[in-house]
Amino acid sequence: MAQNFDLVVIGSGPAGYVCAIRAAQLGMRTACVEEWKNPKGQNVLGGTCLNVGCIPSKALLESSENYEKVLHKFADHGITVKGAEFDLGKMLARKEGIVDKMTKGIEFLFRKNKVTWLKGHGRLTANTADGYAVDVDGEVVTARSVVIATGSRARHLPDLAVDNRLVCDNVGALGFDSVPKRLGVIGAGVIGLELGSVWKRLGAEVTILEALPSFLAAADEAVAKEAWKQFTVNQQLDIRLGVKLGAIKAGTKSVSVSFEEEGTTKKLEFDRLIVSIGRVPNTDGLGADAVGLKLDARGFVEVDDHCHTNLPSVFAIGDVVRGPMLAHKGSEEGVMVAERLAGQKSHVNHDTIPWVIYTSPEIAWVGRNERQLKDAGIPYKVGSSLFMNNGRAKGQDETDGFVKVLAHATTDEILGVHVVNAHASELIAEAVVAMEFRASSEDIARIVHAHPTLSEVLHEAALAADSRALHA
Ligand code: NAI
Repeated sequence: MAQNFDLVVIGSGPAGYVCAIRAAQLGMRTACVEEWKNPKGQNVLGGTCLNVGCIPSKALLESSENYEKVLHKFADHGITVKGAEFDLGKMLARKEGIVDKMTKGIEFLFRKNKVTWLKGHGRLTANTADGYAVDVDGEVVTARSVVIATGSRARHLPDLAVDNRLVCDNVGALGFDSVPKRLGVIGAGVIGLELGSVWKRLGAEVTILEALPSFLAAADEAVAKEAWKQFTVNQQLDIRLGVKLGAIKAGTKSVSVSFEEEGTTKKLEFDRLIVSIGRVPNTDGLGADAVGLKLDARGFVEVDDHCHTNLPSVFAIGDVVRGPMLAHKGSEEGVMVAERLAGQKSHVNHDTIPWVIYTSPEIAWVGRNERQLKDAGIPYKVGSSLFMNNGRAKGQDETDGFVKVLAHATTDEILGVHVVNAHASELIAEAVVAMEFRASSEDIARIVHAHPTLSEVLHEAALAADSRALHA
């Protein structure tokens, strides 16, 4: 007889594995289906984020930033390092070691919480009297409820095969066996900027070709302007905006890319090419047709605010549904669904999801930017403060960037916070808490911030929103 579960979660990325753990904690007999195999052919948990996304990319960011500091920043501290070199093999092995530990960590958490790991490809086959039938590589289990957390994969260009050797997506771009002399990147989005800057710091000449005429269109304009200066002027990334791609031809050792820029046809030759033009949801082979699961025109699973699909007791979370493709958004949706299945009233506030781009400096924001507030006709005031004026930032030699607080012109409620700084990903957390509690800029201005810390810049920006900055 088929094994029966209260809940089967399909996919073990940050959305799926968190959902499975929370459901098990709440007493549900839970299984999680995962088919991912690492390059050694071992079954692993964690999905894109742990295996070929957030975690390995951050390991490489750190290594390449350390190298950059040795080359260009240590001298200011009076530290001289002669003949600095790096061992790419060791750097990659360190990254893989971190991935290995993290994926094993989820295995441990599954055992601890008694989540059954079903290894193989999960496919919905029918809605039976015993619940939904889920086929896992030929073995069928049944589940009273199902959560689809199958994630996303890199969107590829039509007619350009990704071999992850010369032409790479995020998977290949995290494991080049040597630093390419000339690296091309298609798409100046998060992945293009993060990975482009990693390889630039390690010595590659990087050219990024972006279709849109504007840079970082989703960010606040002041943030995009500062980032443009940092990346193109200070870091010498060659970013071309408004390009129209022509023929791309992969040879045996290099790739040639033809494109149109400002009305002129150009051609560049690269030793490697990263294609980072967005991601598409993984809904192929899921059995949507077999059970009548509704997908939208772009292949995302259609859900309501609580991640409920059109089918009773079937939910979908993370990259496979609407909203930003961010690991933390998926995890919180996972917790919400598990708790709602247990009868609780949980919800996710999509208005306070922090965004982070892990470049150097980092870029982070929460809430709305000036353009969105203007478009919505919401009156607002602005308070900004520079890290240049902060003692801790000076000590750390991380004085680039600013904090910008946007607050309602009359109620003073914080509507958005935007940060550019080496530690923006950590600093944004205070702004998220403030917005979640619907704080005013005055609330932040009156909270004691430790000195000397970078958090004082958020304090100062909040003071500036009321035209009473102390250090500007
Ligand atoms: P993205 O959506 O951030 O950027 C793709 C860029 O490619 C856009 O600027 C787009 O205009 C451009 N583009 C599209 N077609 C093009 C073409 N034919 N020629 C030239 N440019 C073209 O996508 P990306 O960087 O691939 O990342 C995928 C997803 O992964 C994102 O949705 C992101 O949320 C998520 N992610 C998040 C990270 C983070 O939170 N730090 C890190 C990495 C990925």
